Amino acid sequence: MSRALDVVVMAAGKGTRMKSRRPKVLHRLAGRALAQHVIDCAARLSARSVVVITGHGAAEVEAGLSAPTGTPLRFVRQEPQLGTGHAVQQAAPVLPDDGVTLVLSGDVPLTQADTLQALLQACDGQRLALLTLDLPDPTGYGRIVRTASGEVQAIVEHKDATESQRAIGEIYSGIMAVPTRLLRGWLARLDNRNAQAEYYLTDVVKFAVADGLSVVAHRIDDAVQVAGVNSPQQLAELERAFQQRHAQALMLQGVRLADPARIDVRGELVCGQDVEIDINCVFEGRVELGEGVRIGAHCVVANARIEAGAVIHPFTHIDGEKAGVRVGEGALVGPFARLRPGADLGREVHIGNFVEVKNSTLAAGAKANHLAYLGDATVGERVNYGAGSITANYDGANKHRTVIEADVHVGSNCVLVAPVTIGAGGTVGAGSTITKDAPAGALSVARGKPVTIAGWQRPVKKKG
Ligand code: UD1
Ligand code: MG
Repeated sequence: MSRALDVVVMAAGKGTRMKSRRPKVLHRLAGRALAQHVIDCAARLSARSVVVITGHGAAEVEAGLSAPTGTPLRFVRQEPQLGTGHAVQQAAPVLPDDGVTLVLSGDVPLTQADTLQALLQACDGQRLALLTLDLPDPTGYGRIVRTASGEVQAIVEHKDATESQRAIGEIYSGIMAVPTRLLRGWLARLDNRNAQAEYYLTDVVKFAVADGLSVVAHRIDDAVQVAGVNSPQQLAELERAFQQRHAQALMLQGVRLADPARIDVRGELVCGQDVEIDINCVFEGRVELGEGVRIGAHCVVANARIEAGAVIHPFTHIDGEKAGVRVGEGALVGPFARLRPGADLGREVHIGNFVEVKNSTLAAGAKANHLAYLGDATVGERVNYGAGSITANYDGANKHRTVIEADVHVGSNCVLVAPVTIGAGGTVGAGSTITKDAPAGALSVARGKPVTIAGWQRPVKKKG
């Protein structure tokens, strides 16, 4: 029986053990807030709505999370926080009766959509379905209590459990799917007569059993999918688990990783065929690597498109931020290069060590190989831009453009004071400060003439 799905994400807890000013669910895993992983997963289930329950740091949490395209997101506040049952009670008024409610925790980021899909199938629009798993050390978790014939009877919280109940290895993950109309009735019956004086969501199980409704457990064996984050240690462990899985997925696609344990993807990495990535690279935002691209060791690449056959040599930093960066086919970048927002490199452009490019277009075959700055520049085909040269693009108030037309040769240590144009085929002599447009085909030099004084005696130090 398929019903519309409404997702409730519990995210009101304090997260004391993070020892952080930042609310726990906003801590980042793979570049995204913990609760954002949960919300995005709900969107992959085609949820009709997602309701996030906030409390601790509510305003910050609400500002820090965003709705995935096509899935409406709303926030409901829980103040004070009186337990997981109390949390879901706050959401009940906005959950339509005809649907199924899936309850998730904002601090359990790595549950996979297909696991939740299987849980929803177990629920089938009519049953209470619990996601459970067996743990070698179940301390602290709610235990799944079954009858002799194996029917789920109750969830007993660790603090309320008897010795024999504590010996049960099957635990409740904190995730359940339940027909909303039934949930509403059970929520109204919760009380806080327990070891923690909290309203436990888990008590709905005993109401379901009392009402003669079947309760099903969907048991998985992948602990990472239900692992919560309570401390920086657990956050780091889950980060590693995420990165390992991501690296495996990339290699399954054919990406060659020098070491799957030494890559971090904090966003979306799209790779063509025969991509090779050396050790210790970090990818952020959306990064596209075309066919045959090679990324050297220790590169950070964010918000960029690297086209086929381009090579990024070690220790290069690329961050396109909002404007993006494009590296054209067969281009060579680095080692130690820096590409900033709006850097747009054409085919076979070469950018060498300690060269910074920002908001500049370089046409095919242009080269800036050593110690240079190109900001707000339009650089023509085959331009050679000398070592130590810079565009002085900022007058202290405004930015101005430098245009360097095709086949220009800019010598070493030049300052091109924008706005300025160097005409096609022109040459700028080394050490020149160019403040006026230079005509095409001309040699432009602006520096002191060399002077030679023969037999020059250097001053000598006075004695006594
Ligand atoms: C809960 C389950 C337990 C299960 C465990 C799995 C209950 C009573 N117990 O216990 O059976 O094994 O999860 O991790 O549900 N939250 C609120 N408001 C509150 C309290 C909590 O929004 O008033 C949120 C927390 O921010 C967190 C989630 O609910 O995201 C779970 O709360 P937590 O306190 O961690 O529950 P556990 O004691 O771990
Ligand atoms: Mg917990």
